Amino acid sequence: MAIPKSAVAVLILLLFVETVELSWCSAVINLQCRGNERQALLELKQGLVDTSNRLSSWVGQDCCKWEGVGCNNRTGHIVKLDLRNPFPVGFQRYEDYGNVPHDKACLRIIEENLTSLVILDLSSNHFQGTIPNAILNMTSLKVLNLSNNQFTSDIPILHELRNLYKLQILDLSSNQFGGEAIKPSGNFSSPSIADKLETLHLFKNQLNGYLPGWLYQLKNLKNLDLSANSFQGPIPESFGNLSKLKVLSLGFNKLSGPIPATLGRLPILSVLDLSSNQLTGSLPETLGELSELRVLDLYNNSFSGHVSEVHFAKLSKLQVLRLSRNSLSLKTKPGWLPPFQLEHIGLGFCQLGPLFPDWLQTQTRYTFLDMSRAGISDSIPFWFENLPSQLNFIDISNNQIYGTMPNLVKSRTPVRLFFNSNKFEGSFPFFPSNVEVLDICNNMISGQIPENISDMLPALIFLGLSNNTLHGSIPSSLCKIRKLQYLDLSKDNLSGHLPQCMSELQMAEVIDLSSNNLSGTIPSSIGELSILRSLRLSNNSFHGELPPALRHCRSLSILDVGENTLSGAIPTWIGESLSSLKILRLRSNMYDGSISPKLCRLTNLQILDVARNNLSGTIPPCFANFKGMVSNQKEGRYGFSNATFYADKLTQVIKGIEREYVKILSLVVNLDLSHNNFVGQIPEQLTSLSGLIGLNLSENHLSGNIPKKIGQMRSLESLDLSINHLSGTIPQSISLLSSLSRLNLSFNHLSGPIPLGSQLRTFQDVTIYKGNHELCGPPLVQNCPEDEPPQTQKHADNEEDDNFKMRWFYIGMASGFVVGIWGVCSVLFFKKSWRYAYFRFIEDLIAELMRK
Ligand SMILES: *[C@@H]1O[C@H](CO)[C@@H](O)[C@H](O)[C@H]1NC(C)=O
Ligand SMILES: *[C@@H]1O[C@H](CO)[C@@H](O)[C@H](O)[C@H]1NC(C)=O
Ligand SMILES: *[C@@H]1O[C@H](CO)[C@@H](O)[C@H](O)[C@H]1NC(C)=O
Ligand SMILES: *[C@@H]1O[C@H](CO)[C@@H](O)[C@H](O)[C@H]1NC(C)=O
Ligand SMILES: *[C@@H]1O[C@H](CO)[C@@H](O)[C@H](O)[C@H]1NC(C)=O
Ligand SMILES: *[C@@H]1O[C@H](CO)[C@@H](O)[C@H](O)[C@H]1NC(C)=O
Ligand SMILES: *[C@@H]1O[C@H](CO)[C@@H](O)[C@H](O)[C@H]1NC(C)=O
Ligand SMILES: *[C@@H]1O[C@H](CO)[C@@H](O)[C@H](O)[C@H]1NC(C)=O
Ligand SMILES: *[C@@H]1O[C@H](CO)[C@@H](O)[C@H](O)[C@H]1NC(C)=O
Ligand SMILES: *[C@@H]1O[C@H](CO)[C@@H](O)[C@H](O)[C@H]1NC(C)=O
Ligand SMILES: *[C@@H]1O[C@H](CO)[C@@H](O)[C@H](O)[C@H]1NC(C)=O
Ligand SMILES: *[C@@H]1O[C@H](CO)[C@@H](O)[C@H](O)[C@H]1NC(C)=O
Repeated sequence: MAIPKSAVAVLILLLFVETVELSWCSAVINLQCRGNERQALLELKQGLVDTSNRLSSWVGQDCCKWEGVGCNNRTGHIVKLDLRNPFPVGFQRYEDYGNVPHDKACLRIIEENLTSLVILDLSSNHFQGTIPNAILNMTSLKVLNLSNNQFTSDIPILHELRNLYKLQILDLSSNQFGGEAIKPSGNFSSPSIADKLETLHLFKNQLNGYLPGWLYQLKNLKNLDLSANSFQGPIPESFGNLSKLKVLSLGFNKLSGPIPATLGRLPILSVLDLSSNQLTGSLPETLGELSELRVLDLYNNSFSGHVSEVHFAKLSKLQVLRLSRNSLSLKTKPGWLPPFQLEHIGLGFCQLGPLFPDWLQTQTRYTFLDMSRAGISDSIPFWFENLPSQLNFIDISNNQIYGTMPNLVKSRTPVRLFFNSNKFEGSFPFFPSNVEVLDICNNMISGQIPENISDMLPALIFLGLSNNTLHGSIPSSLCKIRKLQYLDLSKDNLSGHLPQCMSELQMAEVIDLSSNNLSGTIPSSIGELSILRSLRLSNNSFHGELPPALRHCRSLSILDVGENTLSGAIPTWIGESLSSLKILRLRSNMYDGSISPKLCRLTNLQILDVARNNLSGTIPPCFANFKGMVSNQKEGRYGFSNATFYADKLTQVIKGIEREYVKILSLVVNLDLSHNNFVGQIPEQLTSLSGLIGLNLSENHLSGNIPKKIGQMRSLESLDLSINHLSGTIPQSISLLSSLSRLNLSFNHLSGPIPLGSQLRTFQDVTIYKGNHELCGPPLVQNCPEDEPPQTQKHADNEEDDNFKMRWFYIGMASGFVVGIWGVCSVLFFKKSWRYAYFRFIEDLIAELMRK
């Protein structure tokens, strides 16, 4: 498609090529070059660190020919100094074109030194520190561009630059200005920087505090961009007095409250960007007065209420409408003829349904359509076949749309289609051949994947067909989609062998074929996929061994081959070669033998699930090496893919519930060795895995005691040690597991009192202790013998142990206090230090309550 040149909302993405930066060195810059501008420039050059030799042209007599230097062509005086880095890092934002006047016609002749510079552009370098004094005295400046550096300021910026009262354009964006840096004293004297300022760009800094209401005094302001800072509080009503304002960008701050109705008074406002704030309330009807508005971006706030025709009454120039991620409801009368022709329609999360809004038919120019989660339960209307030919993004996911998928005309650019999570049916539909992203997951598409899919969809990057009712085999033509990066064919009814040619998918990062009826062995050709990050083949009928060639997939983070009939020992090369592995799931196969300590080399592991195999031997103590399972190690955890259109998923059983984790996979830290033949003790070292949320060792032949320091595993929410041969008492420290919500110790040989403690009190279900005949105390009916009251520890050997118990005491007390203070008092005779601890606790509690 052609991006219309006239478009106001052009998302500029400057590609990062190479940074060629300049920065101040410590030398003093002397701009006092009497009668000699050339000398001033040479001195400036000396004051700059220019490793990339950008100023190499600064030699010879005619300084007007030097790079970045501009002279008045009549007098020969220097009027412009442009040292901007030609290769800066990009940032996406709205621009109002034609409004960045490097107005050379109005440049004045300069005097004898650089204090008379009219344009100074030092953007996109690596300047640090405060703005140099020399600049503060360049009183002739009309354009000052210091954007994309690391400038800072201790005092309010407009105050610091107060002498630059001829300034028209001030761009300080993408720096490190912090604090309440735009807050000067209040009123401006005359002349002042407020007089001429037309463009004020402060986006991408660390400014905070409230937006100053006095900004309306910048009466010539046309462009105000304060986005991507930390401003909070309301949008001042006085902004409605900035009568020359064309661009108001306040996105990505923490602003709250409603949109002031006064904004509707801005007669020539062209861009209103309030996206990603915390704004609330309904939209003022005065917005409908903004007859020059081209961009209305209210994305990702908490706006509510109804939006109707009134809100668009005079918006005949509107091109970008972005209301997604609010709680708005957009209801218009049937037959409404909008005054605008939109280019971008972002109405995700808006209530639009149940029928497709018919006004969409009147729009012929849009390239982007988001009507996801819009409460539409309708079939695709006939006019969908005539959607604009430049349309390249359609998201109508998460509605209740039924019938067959629309037959779309070929667009002129790569197309992204999100039709997922609806009720579409029929056989594999026809799509334009330039579709890049195709997500039709969670529908009821039936039949086979077309044999000639690579001819039909040769440009695919992402193909999502999960959770339909497709059957038949995976056509080998799929391997010819050379750009394919993400392939999700899970939860269908596909059968047959995996094609050997999978190795041709050299761009593949994610392959998910789980939950189908695929069979045969796993082809070793998959080992040729060198950038593969996630391989999921679980819940199929694969047999044999994992092909050793898989060791070449060194980027693998997720390897999930659970629920097949794979056999042999767990390959040692997994530990030797797949060092990036974060998730290893071999659950429900026929693996036997013992676990090699080489597996412990997978220090990044956050999920290890080998449950339901025939594994034997002892649990290697070196499992303590799994740093990914230690709580303060969150950085290495499995995050999300960078692609906005795909999130990795994985099924885990935690708290006895099997669940598919998608968005929060990075939070899941689980070790499941259950239902094998492991023998020996539970290694004490395992307790250092303090990030584990689930630990399941049930249904093995483990013996010995429960590790005494089990209470160190502070993140545990689910602990299952049932059906083993564990003996001894339940360690007191177990009561420190304050997040625990599922516990199963049944069918062991545990004995003695069940520890009291805050969290354990919530487990009233006696079956979790069942089959341990010598356990006693609540919640069991069986009382402990007189000389063995609950929570005493017979062998309080050392000081450390005492401290440990002390902590438990505090924690246990917190809920005990509420439940029954007298019951607790009755056990206070046990130890003197405990008694003190108790009363200190009560004191602290009262003090705390008094403060509130
Ligand atoms: C620099 O120019 C200003 C006028 O813009 C003039 O007042 C001043 O004297 C000049 N300074 C020197 C050192 O030439
Ligand atoms: C001098 O600059 C002005 C303004 O940019 C331009 O209109 C004019 O053509 C230039 N003259 C010469 C001789 O380059
Ligand atoms: C400042 O310079 C950057 C390039 O370094 C440019 O993108 C930006 O538009 C300039 N600012 C203004 C207000 O012209
Ligand atoms: C800026 O100007 C003030 C007075 O106008 C003078 O005192 C100061 O030295 C000047 N600073 C520089 C760096 O030129
Ligand atoms: C600014 O000026 C207005 C009147 O022009 C006055 O009411 C106000 O107090 C002044 N504010 C400050 C901070 O000087
Ligand atoms: C802002 O504009 C309104 C309406 O035009 C006017 O009543 C009000 O006095 C103005 N406020 C200031 C501070 O100029
Ligand atoms: C929504 O806005 C918040 C800031 O208010 C931001 O942190 C978050 O990333 C935004 N979400 C999206 C999906 O853009
Ligand atoms: C499969 O898709 C249907 C919608 O067609 C949805 O209701 C269901 O939850 C999906 N199942 C899974 C496991 O994602
Ligand atoms: C794919 O095959 C179907 C029939 O099996 C045919 O109708 C269609 O034209 C083919 N598409 C391409 C692009 O070859
Ligand atoms: C899956 O395919 C088999 C034949 O391969 C068929 O018997 C079965 O009914 C299909 N299941 C579903 C859910 O479509
Ligand atoms: C799986 O495929 C086999 C043939 O390979 C077939 O006999 C069986 O019915 C299929 N199972 C399901 C659940 O579709
Ligand atoms: C995501 O992007 C960042 C930098 O852009 C990169 O460091 C990281 O490896 C990427 N993650 C994935 C999973 O591709």
